[in-house]
Amino acid sequence: MKKRKKLLVGNWKMNPETLDEARHIASVIRRGMKKVSNVNVIICPPFPFLAVLRPKDKNVFLGAQDVFWERAGSYTGEVGLPMLDDVGARSVIIGHSERRAQGETDEMINKKVKVALVGGMGVILCIGEKERDANGHFLATIKQQLVSALLKVDKKNASNLIVAYEPIWAIGKSDREAMKGDSIHEMNIYIKKILSEIFGQDIGRAIPVLYGGSVTPANAEDIVKNGRVDGLLVGRQSLKPAEFIDIAKIIGNI
Ligand code: PGA
Repeated sequence: MKKRKKLLVGNWKMNPETLDEARHIASVIRRGMKKVSNVNVIICPPFPFLAVLRPKDKNVFLGAQDVFWERAGSYTGEVGLPMLDDVGARSVIIGHSERRAQGETDEMINKKVKVALVGGMGVILCIGEKERDANGHFLATIKQQLVSALLKVDKKNASNLIVAYEPIWAIGKSDREAMKGDSIHEMNIYIKKILSEIFGQDIGRAIPVLYGGSVTPANAEDIVKNGRVDGLLVGRQSLKPAEFIDIAKIIGNI
């Protein structure tokens, strides 16, 4: 059976400060990716850099970090799906924990997911618990986040959906504090079970699940091999192109 390509998403967050730096990071990643196989990369820079970084490569794609749920209109400060589409973004991160912390609700996330999927855009839906509790309440949190984000999503659009599991307690830490592959595997099974309940088994099982939270070249292999995830969502290391390419090479060999 042909191996499914791994996915490596680089979430630049609100970095870097200048277009020159953004161009530099993107061009080093592009050059590096010419020597990597079995991996597709999606770089997600801040909005102002998107149009300039439009990629022409076969394994490097462009994504945005958010989208508004209306397509256009009087919504000062927001960015609509047709704009992202027009500048070459093929995916969008929705529901990142840092946006949820800014007040984004499940209902807003659901509206964004629907507009993006209906518009044919790839959605990288972020979910993850704040903390782990001995009674397993975090599992209910994960289920609730998935069910509410995917409410009334038509299953015919689910082929453009990717789920990124990012436990908040593991984001922005050292690689030793990231979640270990074996525990990620358990979460992966749980997430696929919920997705199967929502969309039916064939569609639910086929939705790629990524892990995010303090991924580096030191833990990427354990996470992808033992966690059996379809790829990674990387924050800080995606701004260090050499490390980012190392991660791509590591997961491309699994
Ligand atoms: P990190 O961020 O890799 O810097 O921990 C991941 C994320 O928030 O997407």
